[in-house]
Parts: sequence; structure tokens; C-alpha cells
Amino acid sequence: MYTEKSIRQAICCLFLIAYIARSHAAVVNIKSKGAKGDGITDDGQAIVSAWNEACGREEPSSVLIPSGTYMVFPQIDLIGPCKAPIKIKATGAVVKAPPELEKFTTTYWIAIRNVSKLSMIGGTYNGQGEQTWKQNLCPDGGPGPCPLPVNLQFTNVTNSLLQHITSTDSKFFHMRLSLCDNTRLDHITILSPANSVNTDGIQIGRLSGVNITNSVMRTNDDCISIGQGCRNIRIKNITCGPGDGIGIGSLGRRANEEPVQGIWIKNVTMTGTENGLRIKTWPTSFPGSVSDLHYEDIIMNNVSFPIFFDQQFCPLNNCQNGTASNVNISNVSFRNIRGTSATKVALKFDCSADVPCKNIKVADINLTYEGPEGGPATSECANIKPKVVGQVVPPACPGGLD
Ligand SMILES: *[C@@H]1O[C@H](CO)[C@@H](O)[C@H](O)[C@H]1NC(C)=O
Ligand SMILES: *[C@@H]1O[C@H](CO)[C@@H](O)[C@H](O)[C@H]1NC(C)=O
Ligand SMILES: *[C@@H]1O[C@H](CO)[C@@H](O)[C@H](O)[C@H]1NC(C)=O
Ligand SMILES: *[C@@H]1O[C@H](CO)[C@@H](O)[C@H](O)[C@H]1NC(C)=O
Ligand SMILES: *[C@@H]1O[C@H](CO)[C@@H](O)[C@H](O)[C@H]1NC(C)=O
Ligand SMILES: *[C@@H]1O[C@H](CO)[C@@H](O)[C@H](O)[C@H]1NC(C)=O
Ligand SMILES: *[C@@H]1O[C@H](CO)[C@@H](O)[C@H](O)[C@H]1NC(C)=O
Ligand SMILES: *[C@@H]1O[C@H](CO)[C@@H](O)[C@H](O)[C@H]1NC(C)=O
Ligand SMILES: *[C@@H]1O[C@H](CO)[C@@H](O)[C@H](O)[C@H]1NC(C)=O
Ligand SMILES: *[C@@H]1O[C@H](CO)[C@@H](O)[C@H](O)[C@H]1NC(C)=O
Repeated sequence: MYTEKSIRQAICCLFLIAYIARSHAAVVNIKSKGAKGDGITDDGQAIVSAWNEACGREEPSSVLIPSGTYMVFPQIDLIGPCKAPIKIKATGAVVKAPPELEKFTTTYWIAIRNVSKLSMIGGTYNGQGEQTWKQNLCPDGGPGPCPLPVNLQFTNVTNSLLQHITSTDSKFFHMRLSLCDNTRLDHITILSPANSVNTDGIQIGRLSGVNITNSVMRTNDDCISIGQGCRNIRIKNITCGPGDGIGIGSLGRRANEEPVQGIWIKNVTMTGTENGLRIKTWPTSFPGSVSDLHYEDIIMNNVSFPIFFDQQFCPLNNCQNGTASNVNISNVSFRNIRGTSATKVALKFDCSADVPCKNIKVADINLTYEGPEGGPATSECANIKPKVVGQVVPPACPGGLD
């Protein structure tokens, strides 16, 4: 006879079978779409058609890129909206771009757009950029084939998780995200040699509620670059170097830039980077603002300019002399920043004469100079009066410079 319990168990079991069947059916293996995985054949269209099938399903679905090496060119677009949450699982897979820049007609290699609830898990995306770096076609992002293709570009990918992804040898930036609210990047590995060109790790812009955690970045340019319109960003447990540190900006070069507001950067170790924590704004600039910025528990190992507000950022040297930046910097705190500086000037606050830096706090800092000149580290300050808490070495802006 059937007890209520056994009926419940049977129903439960049926649901379980249905669930397993459904979740099994919801995996679209790119091999079923003709991917060869021989590292020679272009498997890009197989990935696109697996995506299109998974994306069109009513229930949560996955694109599976099994272990193997896949060539993808010239570029692929994975576009939503999808009917349900979608996953791309590529654990153990290596996806490679062709080395030849001529094969690209767009400013990205792999683009994902207009998707909510994406989980992109695992995989190595290799941009094979070596030949492109040698050509050095865009030294300052100028015309010609510029900008060069970004390895992974996410636009309007919201409420998503990007995890255990490795990007290597990109031709240009490794990852670029814009309009990607409420997305988490975790265990990301960025690898390109120190002599690569313009290989920023992760560039973000115009988004809010993004967290980047537990990641390792070795590259030639900014490990993380924070552009206009970034709000409520948390960066934690990052190892950076070689590279160019964690940068905000550059800002003020274009009209109507949105503010950068609410950035928490914690537990970062930088080794041998060209800058540490930097803010770059152009002189002769359009208005803009950076506020509510908090740096905490940062270790610097032989970093040039560990802390640097550069409000006269003008790499092309074409800025009008005697003009100041219009980007105001306010409400910034530094707490527990330790280690060594490769330049004598460990703290450099070059703030704007027109909109001085306001409400800046420095607490518990110990940066020592380790370089050929010898002697202690120093600070250089303009248009700032930081509030000093605890012990700050080198003394921040002694003599009450404003
Ligand atoms: C993304 O969505 C926006 C707004 O619906 C639309 O204008 C745009 O064309 C979409 N992008 C792509 C690549 O489909
Ligand atoms: C973002 O994508 C969603 C679909 O996921 C779409 O409804 C929305 O219009 C897009 N927004 C923009 C700014 O493209
Ligand atoms: C980011 O981290 C904050 C603080 O831990 C958390 O409240 C928020 O939900 C996280 N956001 C995402 C998208 O993971
Ligand atoms: C910090 O990140 C590294 C690199 O991903 C990871 O190995 C380590 O477990 C993380 N630490 C914590 C406390 O999560
Ligand atoms: C963050 O850094 C502080 C100071 O160096 C250290 O005590 C703490 O264990 C670190 N936390 C994590 C999660 O790595
Ligand atoms: C900073 O600049 C923004 C944008 O121009 C402006 O709205 C804001 O009032 C300024 N804030 C301060 C403190 O000057
Ligand atoms: C520190 O960095 C400088 C270049 O910035 C380099 O020449 C020097 O060898 C490095 N020192 C150590 C101890 O790594
Ligand atoms: C600004 O002044 C510097 C140093 O005097 C000079 O080298 C540079 O050419 C000037 N730039 C312009 C645009 O006038
Ligand atoms: C800066 O902090 C003060 C309080 O310390 C607050 O009143 C003000 O609104 C903050 N400004 C910005 C732009 O975050
Ligand atoms: C700063 O660091 C140096 C080198 O590690 C150490 O000798 C010194 O005692 C530290 N100073 C403070 C004030 O903690």
C-alpha cells in the first residue's frame, strides 16, 4: 500500500529524474555543432550556434566547450537577451585567436552583449598577440587599425559571474566591460609579458556594483583600469605586476563624462609595477569628478610612484601650458599602505590648481625608498592638504603646502 511518505518520495524522485533529464538536455556541446577542437579549424561558428541554441531555450542552459584547443577567427559575437540564465563552461579548454592582425575587422575578438545572468566559467583565451606588439601600430591609440582588438569584451552583461577565466597574450586590452551592472569577476588570471604593448588587464567603464576578487595579473599596462561612470566597485585580493598598477582615468579629456564614485580597493599586492594607485586627469579638461575612494591594506614591492594623483596627465605633450584640470577629487582615504618605492617620490599628489583635492585622508603609511640614490622616500604635493592619521612615512605634504 502507498503511504503518504512513499508517494511523496515517488513524486520527489520523478521531479529529480525530470530535473536531471532537463539539465542534461540543456547542455549544448560545441562539438555537436561541428567544432573540431584541432587547434587549426575555425570553431567560431560552432560556438555561436551552440550559444544561439542555449540562449533560445526556456530553461537555464549551458554552452560546453570541452577540453581541447579551439581556433576562433576572425571574431565572434554572443548576443542576448537569452530566455533564461545561461552558462559558458570552458574548464580545460584553450581558445586561440589567430596571430595575424589582418584577420580582424573589429575592435574585439570575443564579444558578449545584452545578456543578464550569464555565468562564464573556466577556459583560457589566448590572443596570440606577440606579432601585433612588435608591429606597435597604435603607440598612443591613434588612427590606422586602432584601437586594436580586445580579447574579451562584455557590453551590457548584467547580474553575471565571470570566474576562473584566464586571458593570455591579448593583442590589446585583455578584458573590457561596460554597462555590466552587478557583475562579479573572481579568480581571473591575466598573463602577458612585461614587453607586450597596451595589454591592460581589466578595463571597466560606465557600470555599477562590480566586484573583482582573488585575481592575478601580470601584464604591461594597468592591471585594472577604472574609467568614467564607475560606481560602487569593490576590488579585493589582487596580485599585480609586472604592470602599471590600478589606475583611475584618464578623465577629463571628453565632455559629459560621468563621475567615478564609490571605489573600495583592499588587499592588493603590487610588485615591480610602474605606478601603484594612480588617478590620471587631463589639464585643460572638461569637468568631472572622482569621490568616495578607499584604499586599504596594500603592499608595494619596488613600485615606482606607489601613490600618484596626476592631474597634469598629458602623455602626448599637446596640452596648453598653464591650464589646470577641471576634474575634482574628493573624499579619498589611504590606510595601511606598506612596502618599497622604486622612485624617491613615494607619495605624489599633483592636484589641480582650479579644483584642489578635498577631504583626503592618509593613515598608517610606511613606504621606504630602495633605489640607487639612497636616502629616505619623499612626498610631493600641490593643491592638497591631506589629513594625516597615525604614522605616515614619508611625511605627507610637510610644511602645510596647499
Ligand atoms: C542591445 O540592446 C540594445 C537595446 O535594446 C539595442 O539597441 C542593441 O542593438 C543591442 N545590441 C545588439 C548587439 O544586439
Ligand atoms: C541590455 O540588454 C537587455 C537584455 O538583456 C536589454 O533589454 C536592454 O535594453 C539592454 N540595454 C542596453 C543599454 O543596451
Ligand atoms: C560585491 O561585494 C559586496 C560586498 O561584499 C556585496 O554586497 C555585493 O553583493 C557584491 N556584488 C556582486 C555582484 O558580487
Ligand atoms: C587570494 O587570491 C589568490 C589568487 O587567486 C587565491 O589563491 C587566494 O586563495 C585568495 N585569498 C583568499 C583569502 O581568498
Ligand atoms: C588583507 O591584508 C591584511 C593586512 O595585510 C591581512 O591582515 C589580511 O589577512 C588580508 N586579508 C585577506 C583576505 O587576504
Ligand atoms: C565636482 O565636479 C562635479 C562635476 O563637474 C560637480 O557636479 C561637483 O559639484 C563638483 N564637486 C565639488 C566638491 O567640487
Ligand atoms: C626595482 O625596479 C627597478 C625598475 O623600476 C629595477 O631597475 C630594479 O632592479 C628593481 N629592484 C629590485 C630589487 O627588484
Ligand atoms: C609647455 O611648456 C613646456 C616646458 O616649458 C614646453 O616644452 C612645451 O612645448 C609647452 N607646450 C605647449 C603646448 O606649449
Ligand atoms: C564627502 O564626504 C562628506 C562627509 O565627510 C560628505 O558630506 C560629502 O557628501 C561627500 N562628498 C562626496 C562627493 O562623496
Ligand atoms: C617602515 O618599514 C621599514 C622597513 O620595513 C622599517 O624598518 C620601519 O621600522 C618601518 N617604520 C614604521 C614607522 O613602521
